[in-house]
Amino acid sequence: MPLTPGLPGTIAARPAADREVNAQINRLMTMLREFAGFRASNQIQLKLQKVFSNMPAKDFSAWLQAVEKDPQRTDLVALVEDLTNHETYFFREMVHLEALRQHVLPALVQAKARQAGAHRLVLWSAACSSGEEVYTLAMIALEVLASQGFAREQAPGEYVLSPGWSLEVHGSDISRQAIRLAKEAMYCSREDGLSSFRKFPQPYLRFFTEAGAPTHADTGNTRRYYKVKPQLARYCQFRVFNLVSRIAFLRDIDVVFCRNVLIYIDNAAQKAIVQMLADALQPEGVLFLGLVDAPETAGAVVKHALPQCVIYRKP
Ligand SMILES: C[S@@+](CC[C@H](N)C(=O)[O-])C[C@H]1O[C@@H](n2cnc3c(N)ncnc32)[C@H](O)[C@@H]1O
Repeated sequence: MPLTPGLPGTIAARPAADREVNAQINRLMTMLREFAGFRASNQIQLKLQKVFSNMPAKDFSAWLQAVEKDPQRTDLVALVEDLTNHETYFFREMVHLEALRQHVLPALVQAKARQAGAHRLVLWSAACSSGEEVYTLAMIALEVLASQGFAREQAPGEYVLSPGWSLEVHGSDISRQAIRLAKEAMYCSREDGLSSFRKFPQPYLRFFTEAGAPTHADTGNTRRYYKVKPQLARYCQFRVFNLVSRIAFLRDIDVVFCRNVLIYIDNAAQKAIVQMLADALQPEGVLFLGLVDAPETAGAVVKHALPQCVIYRKP
């Protein structure tokens, strides 16, 4: 059922018997917008209708009141898990990654090398889902550091940084389940075209160890499991973090990736999130937004600074 035109967040009229449920779903959408920034959309509305289709209106009303009163927002957090799209894969959207590898990181690394003292390179994937983006950024950062002479690959996929250099790649997501998977760092390669490895450049398999044999021999499907090597994982840290929080948990960041999430977020929350991320950058730091995320609603900070990339460079 479509949203009422011109009234975002309001569900179109349904027969009288359903009006009470409609009003309650609207209340729930408002709570989801305030809690996680979720944009009211047909997709969310349909998912909510599905989730609550078997719950009588009276029970739904009682559940909603309990959620509203719960300071921990336990059920709301569980609902957010159900509603969010966690799709991700290694080396997603190469146009960003090539800009990072060829332009952004070399310039940042060279600038750091010219400064006295310790050299700390910090990247953040701000809606990292199950972690593929974080490990992708870490692999690229290590290669760039090596190409500039500040790291060495001592064995396949095992880099040591030069003295005085450190690398931190942070990943965060609102979803506890996604962060648990990211920390586990075990990924499945399947042949259905949807796996974490669907666009994977084979040379990067050197950062993984094969952790399991095919498990679906009966169906003929090949599934292989790969674990991120500890020599890569040691540069990566994960935590649960809601982007709607006004203050980032990190400061002086060199590169932030916030991709394929703003599309689900309400316009006002998008602006606040982009501002929060921009504030967390260090001067010359760079923010990448996803190709599908709407930059025109993301506030004045966003500029197209590299071909096809929606990025912001902090002055
Ligand atoms: C489609 S995935 C994108 C993953 C990765 N950035 C990529 O481009 O492949 C979107 C992720 O955003 C997360 N997300 C949605 N709302 C969020 C919020 N308010 N705060 C933090 N993460 C959020 C979801 O849990 C989901 O894992």
